[in-house]
Amino acid sequence: MPYEPLSNMQVRMRIKDRDPAFTACPVTAGGGRSLLVQVPRGDGGLPWVPPGTEVELLRKDGLRLVTATVRARTLRPVPSFAVELAEPLIQDVLYTPKEGRAILVTGGKGGSGKTFVSLGLGLLLAQQGARVALVDADLGTADIAVNLGLPREPHLGHVLDRKVSSEAALQQAVRPNLAVLPGAMGAKWGDPSVWKLGHLLTVVQELRPAYDFVVLDSRAGVGQDVTALWQGVDRVLFVTIDEPASMADTLSLLQAFGESGRLRSGALVVNRVHSYRDASDRLLGFARSVREETGKEIPLWGVLQEDPRVHALAAEGKLLIEAYPLAPTTVALRQLAARVQA
Ligand SMILES: Nc1ncnc2c1ncn2[C@@H]1O[C@H](COP(=O)(O)OP(=O)(O)OP(=O)(O)O)[C@@H](O)[C@H]1O
Ligand SMILES: [Mg+2]
Repeated sequence: MPYEPLSNMQVRMRIKDRDPAFTACPVTAGGGRSLLVQVPRGDGGLPWVPPGTEVELLRKDGLRLVTATVRARTLRPVPSFAVELAEPLIQDVLYTPKEGRAILVTGGKGGSGKTFVSLGLGLLLAQQGARVALVDADLGTADIAVNLGLPREPHLGHVLDRKVSSEAALQQAVRPNLAVLPGAMGAKWGDPSVWKLGHLLTVVQELRPAYDFVVLDSRAGVGQDVTALWQGVDRVLFVTIDEPASMADTLSLLQAFGESGRLRSGALVVNRVHSYRDASDRLLGFARSVREETGKEIPLWGVLQEDPRVHALAAEGKLLIEAYPLAPTTVALRQLAARVQA
């Protein structure tokens, strides 16, 4: 599991149960059990606390990480406190698991290009060196395995039925850095129980530590599966077509999304644009309507052109991104992947 040193993060330290808390940076881990905590002077400095005093380390958000005992105060290399921690907590304090980010690709209308964007994002993030799990969460009408020419089973439906683990269902190294979990095809998978939806969120959480990104393709609209996933991911990309009906659908979807309290995680992608010049007024109008409907600015992360070669390439089992790495749509998808990485 990849770990991120906590020294990148700031923690707060305070004398147990007493305010105020002071900014502290863990600077070294000495001898396994102890941690040197630097309290910068600019923050007023922690008052002298005798050895044996119990202090608490807190995250910036106030979450209590651990109680520690001050062992000594040192002046070199920097004025700091050596605090002693209970053994099993050292790892928790010094390192936090670096979890992958989960990105849901969804949209108001069928055929807007959710799968096209999910696939593109998964492939391009992987090409950019990120470890990616691409999960086809379009329950009942999945098609990522077909698009990539992969075996269709075992699939996510079997995982949600607990017949196989997510690990066993993931097809590894489909491309360098890319694993794919195929989705379920057929009406019987289309209406999952709340237990299965709960398990779907667990699957996302299970995948995060082993990948930099978990990219999920979903079906259109506000099904329970989609709204459940809104809560379990870091970013929701809404794919809309450059057409009034599709944009109107997306607006109503965004209203529901706003009610879920997750607006800040939303971003927009406009797909199948025929001409940037013709589309610009519509895009501006769309952005204005989104602002009016939701009361928030939802960033536009991608404008993708309709590429007439996609259809013929699909008949040959090929993908635009791989066949034409410099096509304007591929370039725009690459920029989208870079946005997601940022
Ligand atoms: N920018 C584009 N240029 C050309 N063809 C595209 C583009 N985006 C999507 N397509 C094509 O449009 C069709 C529908 O796209 P896609 O399957 O990604 O839509 P979807 O939103 O996932 O649909 P569904 O709701 O049925 O899952 C596909 O054949 C796809 O290859
Ligand atoms: Mg799709």
